[in-house]
Amino acid sequence: MKKTLNNLAKFETLASDHDPTTKASSANSSGITSAAFQFHHSDLFSVHFDQHPNFTEMCGIFAYLNYDVSRERRYILEVLFNGLRRLEYRGYDSAGISIDSSSVAGAVRSPSDPPLVFRQEGNIESLVKSVYQEVSATDLNLEESFSVHAGIAHTRWATHGEPAPRNSHPQSSGAENDFLVVHNGVITNYEVLKQSLLRHGYTFESETDTEVIPKLAKFVFDKANEGGDQTVTFSEVVLEVMRHLEGAYALIFKSRHYPNELIACKRGSPLLLGVKEFAEEQNNGTSYNEMNFISKNGHPKELFLSSDPHALVEHTKKVLVIEDSEVVDIKDGGVTILKFDNGKRKDGKSLSRPASVQRALSILEMEVEQISKGKYKYYMQKEIHEQPESLTTTMRGRLIRGGSSKRKSVLLGGLKDHLKTIRRSRRIVFIGCGTSYNAALAARPILEELCGIPVMMEIASDLLDRQAPVYRDDTTIFVSQSGETADTLNALEYALENGALCVGITNTVGSSVARNTHCGVHINAGSEIGVASTKAYTSQIVVMAMVALAIGADTISTKQRREGIIESLLNLPGKIREVLKLDEEMKELARSLISEQSLLMFGRGYNYATALEGALKVKEVALMHSEGILAGEMKHGPLALVDETLPIVVIATRDQCFSKQQSVIQQLKARKGRLIVMCTEGDAAAVCGGSCRVIEVPQVVDCLQPVVNIVPLQLLAYHLTVLRGYNVDQPRNLAKSVTTE
Ligand code: AGP
Repeated sequence: MKKTLNNLAKFETLASDHDPTTKASSANSSGITSAAFQFHHSDLFSVHFDQHPNFTEMCGIFAYLNYDVSRERRYILEVLFNGLRRLEYRGYDSAGISIDSSSVAGAVRSPSDPPLVFRQEGNIESLVKSVYQEVSATDLNLEESFSVHAGIAHTRWATHGEPAPRNSHPQSSGAENDFLVVHNGVITNYEVLKQSLLRHGYTFESETDTEVIPKLAKFVFDKANEGGDQTVTFSEVVLEVMRHLEGAYALIFKSRHYPNELIACKRGSPLLLGVKEFAEEQNNGTSYNEMNFISKNGHPKELFLSSDPHALVEHTKKVLVIEDSEVVDIKDGGVTILKFDNGKRKDGKSLSRPASVQRALSILEMEVEQISKGKYKYYMQKEIHEQPESLTTTMRGRLIRGGSSKRKSVLLGGLKDHLKTIRRSRRIVFIGCGTSYNAALAARPILEELCGIPVMMEIASDLLDRQAPVYRDDTTIFVSQSGETADTLNALEYALENGALCVGITNTVGSSVARNTHCGVHINAGSEIGVASTKAYTSQIVVMAMVALAIGADTISTKQRREGIIESLLNLPGKIREVLKLDEEMKELARSLISEQSLLMFGRGYNYATALEGALKVKEVALMHSEGILAGEMKHGPLALVDETLPIVVIATRDQCFSKQQSVIQQLKARKGRLIVMCTEGDAAAVCGGSCRVIEVPQVVDCLQPVVNIVPLQLLAYHLTVLRGYNVDQPRNLAKSVTTE
């Protein structure tokens, strides 16, 4: 079996050595520069295959601790709520927070002050509303100032137990909230732990796997203090709890026994620490100190813990990527990191002894604008409209036009050492899910044409269900925006076991796809926050077209064709700018479809994928039934559905399938079909003689036409959703990253 290279150097991000302008924009969706990751990436978003990645829960965790910086309760609440808003795309069916209760004026907080817990079903705004309602009902003082305070927060996408306050986090050790935990991941041995805790008299309120954790912490704490002398430290309690946990998790603990202290730890699920330090002489929060290490004690500071960088960037760019088996203890203005030597003992049962480790901070190369909606109302809208820029970044430094011969070529640093092997492959097998699968389908014809190698398409779950044959001389290409999709990761593990060369195409540096494949290409589309994938889709197609150009680079007979494609790639952002001008027209079209039950999309050749992807967008956000249909299959069933009421989009832009699509249109018209035809600019009359609705799009080279053609359909899905009154960015029942099987 080929050795997996857990090294980002083997994974193409940007060929910046060919374009000095690329440096500033080289952060990708993870937001952390690859340079920084040379030191810290190794366990980022790490999901080890022996830790059941297929059951990882999709949630967001966040914490805010202010030390020696005076903050009012209202401010603390808002920081926690904003953190959750940034993480909401990770899960949005329930949320919760914990903050300190009011103490007697001037008194030191004591174990008799149980923290307050607020939990609510629904989105973050439902939580915010319920917290302020409770605050006013209980006269909680929002102006009370805390020079030190530790708050924790959670946004959930349910897997264990329905969305309900009792199943929301923080989960508690019991009525007095001795220990509180927010959790992203899953505890696979929770049933066993629950049974033993039940035997020790603990009662359970939720159906979550998480609830065993705070209860176990209380059990450990009570046992250690049976003599009445409280000497066990918070980190000792958590370390002991970790010894008993199996599964994947990122956890943050808060306890009334350890006021103003937080403990975080992780195995498998992502976790970052953000640090904002203030100069000692100015503790009023105005002077931000730029240090590369976290000062030990005493300095005023604000510390943040988060599942991903989106919730940190508005506060600080100094981050520490917490690695697997590390325990972070935030106390008295200092941060101590303890690390187990190995995740597990050799017998696989428990963890070895932890040792303190020194870590340098990394710089987050992410701007707030990247993760804010800017002038747009929704992320999906913003991400559709920023495609000219995201595509430019995807191609930057990778298309070479130069030399006296004006030769045009493609350089993909992460693939160049593997091109020979790929060219010798018996097959290329694309593997992905949802939009990523569709992007691969759109790129398949150009791979076949330029590489002359059979290209197979596999939906990751189906490949696994069939245990389909994968061979040592196959090149498998894993396509995933997040790089964390469970089905895709399981298929990757399967392909590795079968000895295939594994190539990754992902938007996320440090993701499992990036780390566990032999080589690959980052699509560099920037953070995609809307659950519906839009700009990642177009960047994926462009990357795969570049992969085809790189593999086919030494074939003389296709030189002209390749150069034409490169020229068209260079002009693509301008064409996308043109097609985005259809926004208003698509809104009009959406208005005419608002009450429909169903929408069909017919495509073929390069644009079969466009039909599938357009339909996926409509069904996933507009919650309208929509099917992408291969036009060649029309007469084998779908034609029966055609009547004067059912709207049908037919993609008939100019390529080798054009005349066949013209014939499809004629047949649909003969059955009084209600047609919306997408055609090349100037073709409207020729294509449907003025008797159907037309979407005219600019023409580009055939293999890139799907990149242009999908944009009006993305806009259509977006407007349909808004007009139908549904949530654009967080569609019902869906989460951005599908890390469960
Ligand atoms: C896209 O709009 C969907 N949200 C979904 O199909 C997605 O593309 C799929 O879950 C795969 O995700 P990945 O690209 O992160 O692997």
